[in-house]
Amino acid sequence: VGLIGVGTIGGFLADKISHDPELELCFVLDKDREKVKDFPNETVINSASEIASKKNPDLVIEAASQQAVAEYAEAVLEKTDFLILSVGALADRALEKKIKCLCKRTGKRLFVPSGALAGIDMLKAMQPELLEVEIVSRKNPKGFGRDDKELTVLFNGPAREACRLFPKNINISATASLNGIGFDRTMVKMVSDPECKKNRHTLSIKHSFGEMVVDIKAFPSKNPKTSSTAAFSAFDLLKKIQNGINIY
Ligand SMILES: NC(=O)c1ccc[n+]([C@@H]2O[C@H](COP(=O)([O-])OP(=O)(O)OC[C@H]3O[C@@H](n4cnc5c(N)ncnc54)[C@H](O)[C@@H]3O)[C@@H](O)[C@H]2O)c1
Repeated sequence: VGLIGVGTIGGFLADKISHDPELELCFVLDKDREKVKDFPNETVINSASEIASKKNPDLVIEAASQQAVAEYAEAVLEKTDFLILSVGALADRALEKKIKCLCKRTGKRLFVPSGALAGIDMLKAMQPELLEVEIVSRKNPKGFGRDDKELTVLFNGPAREACRLFPKNINISATASLNGIGFDRTMVKMVSDPECKKNRHTLSIKHSFGEMVVDIKAFPSKNPKTSSTAAFSAFDLLKKIQNGINIY
């Protein structure tokens, strides 16, 4: 496994991979040298061109940023499969198209974990019958890098715009969009709430045969923008890919 981004989620994954006898960490890449200083020199890479040369990983995981997805997608998908956490990158139509074309041409796959979201299975199953999809995301102001003293609605609109305006916060809206009715019809509300101790995401869907509401509360990780559950979801998907058993 190659790893792009060794921050909160990437650090967790690097540790899990290193302790798993069936996995090997081929390379780590992070624009912040501090983050990779404890890894052996031969594992650290600095550019897209080095991705292929490092022991040909079976999978590269991005846990960095939307920008990193755009920066490395081509180099990775020319060589191997790609699992991304910064799913909001796909709200950019041109990048989504480029990645789809790359996958078609190379036969490589792009994997998206459910991340901090749950309920994707039913969302996906009901895709042809979906009428409405809404995500309400509540975090402590710190999670938005703010200092609000009272409840403040920061955004209310389509997921495509939310992903563009809040690239570090609302990846789950991209995951829901890709599995549901798309970035333009998935509605997002983002609320900064000083009373909020946990990140809370509420996914509500209406379809021709009924409704579903999934309410998730999880403590933020070391990075207050990031729910602690996302890293577990990424590692779970990594193991499913490795074992060849895919449960959707
Ligand atoms: N899919 C989900 O449900 C979900 C949930 C939480 C977080 N995320 C996303 O996952 C990503 C990682 O989250 P995190 O909490 O670990 O972030 P973090 O800020 O703790 O770590 C990100 C690391 O990536 C590095 N980085 C950023 N851009 C880079 C680039 N272009 N090239 C190389 N290195 C780069 C940074 O230096 C940093 O060390 C973020 O984009 C976050 O929004 C997704």
